[in-house]
Amino acid sequence: MSAEASSRYTGIAIALHWAMAALLVFMIWLGWNMDENEARYQLHKSIGITILFLALARLAWRFANPPPPLPDGMPALEKTASHAVHIAFYALMIGIPLGGWFMVSVSPFQVSTVLYGVLSWPHLPFTEGLISKDLYEIVEFMHGKGAWAIIGLLALHVAGAVKHEFGPEDGVFKRMIPGLFGKANPPALPARGVLFAFGGSLALFTAIAATSLIGAGTANSAAPPASAAGPATTIASNWIVDYEASEITFAGLHDGNAFTGEFEAWTADVAFDPDALAAAKVRVVVDTRSAKTGKKLYDDSLKAREWFNTAEFPEAIIELSEFTPSASGYEATATLALKGKPVSVPLRFTLDIDGDKATLDGSAVFSRKALDLGQASDASASWVADEVTVTVSGRATRKP
Ligand code: HEM
Ligand code: HEM
Repeated sequence: MSAEASSRYTGIAIALHWAMAALLVFMIWLGWNMDENEARYQLHKSIGITILFLALARLAWRFANPPPPLPDGMPALEKTASHAVHIAFYALMIGIPLGGWFMVSVSPFQVSTVLYGVLSWPHLPFTEGLISKDLYEIVEFMHGKGAWAIIGLLALHVAGAVKHEFGPEDGVFKRMIPGLFGKANPPALPARGVLFAFGGSLALFTAIAATSLIGAGTANSAAPPASAAGPATTIASNWIVDYEASEITFAGLHDGNAFTGEFEAWTADVAFDPDALAAAKVRVVVDTRSAKTGKKLYDDSLKAREWFNTAEFPEAIIELSEFTPSASGYEATATLALKGKPVSVPLRFTLDIDGDKATLDGSAVFSRKALDLGQASDASASWVADEVTVTVSGRATRKP
């Protein structure tokens, strides 16, 4: 037996081996036990993407740090089998998460991925034209079978490790055991290429994550959007809206739990005189990218194609007309054009005009179905209730 043959894997290879083995087993369990639970789906995707980049780093590490040669006494066929299992493991450790990423990218549901609840992760590029239920189901099938392939290989792999441990050859198990477990362990090989393996993988990860940030645009700025949609307003505004003191919020039910959100960027032109209601007109331009719910997954999801589709429709227009007095204040028709198609609902509001100051509080109820929101993933409203209440609270000063 050569001196090299009794070397251990590098510490990094050993750490990666056991950490990834644990993560993979957990991932298979999680995949089978997601039970329509949104948090588990997100965790599954987060760990899966982590595994993908760990596997790439591990592969690069292996190129920079070839494993110690197998014991001389080991039959050639078994050496080949062992190598074949390792190669297949690498193919699965990269192929399964890549396939999972592809699956969610082509899924008609178009659910957003937010890694560990904090980092927006894009869909795979160039998959937009491939979105289809059929393709999703094929990839889903293969994803599930891939997990079984890992289980099958694991059985062979563990059987091999056990056989060689108790067989006539110099055991292999101790090559993969951390050095801290006893003196019987052979020394680890010298390690090199940390920057190449982990720097490279991290750089790739960062570059992909950055594409989401670039796509996020400037909607976070406090400044109201420059109105590009529709013809220039013809409203002769006689009120100046105090945006700091005003808000447009929305509320609904998601999986039985109430959620609320706010549009942080919008502008309004208001022509309103309580003595000339027939001539009153209000036009509000909302930056749909500025919707904030306090939960990153929802914020990202709202931007997606089946919801606000902010890439194509960055602005929503709300026009108020047909004002009439009502028992508790006023009623108007609110016409919302969110994705091109206008939908009209009644808006009820109270209005206090005190000298030059006006305070308005009102609400309107919209239907997701009418607005074509989330109709691909949840047309039957089993997750997100169909009714969404939009609440407006406005403060304005009369123009001098
Ligand atoms: C090595 C990493 C991964 C393993 C071992 C793994 C394993 C699994 C397993 C066992 C299932 C259950 C399949 C079934 O019910 O037959 C599953 C489902 C799923 N996985 Fe993964 N997965 C991995 C990575 C990923 C990644 C990276 C994503 C997406 C970014 C992903 C997305 C999904 C989705 C969406 C499902 C549910 C499919 C459905 O039933 O509609 N997975 N995964
Ligand atoms: C899903 C879980 C596992 C995967 C994906 C996996 C994968 C691998 C791979 C790819 C290698 C080659 C070395 C490398 O490139 O890092 C390897 C080596 C090894 N694994 Fe695993 N492994 C898993 C679980 C286990 C378990 C449970 C055992 C314990 C019996 C084990 C024992 C070993 C040993 C002893 C070696 C060293 C073989 C040699 O000396 O060449 N592995 N494993």
